[in-house]
Amino acid sequence: MPETVRLTINGEAVEVPSGTRVAAAMLLAGAVCRTSVSGEPRTALCGMGICMECRAVVNGVPQTKTCQLACQPGMSVETQQGETWR
Ligand code: FES
Repeated sequence: MPETVRLTINGEAVEVPSGTRVAAAMLLAGAVCRTSVSGEPRTALCGMGICMECRAVVNGVPQTKTCQLACQPGMSVETQQGETWR
């Protein structure tokens, strides 16, 4: 297993240690997971897959929980903008 993983977060190339969860990588990159309907920044809260605050767009798929998802090489992650729960 490689020691680091390269991915993009909001279009910026990021390199993180292998095993890093996507939510943590977003914090390291200075990004938030999503914005609320009113535009407030939101990011991981519980870190264990319950609160849903860590939803982001991963490889084009919105509403992806990022706190339990390990970074993969070439992954594209974007802050989810103003989405409501579906
Ligand atoms: S941080 Fe709570 S579900 Fe991901």
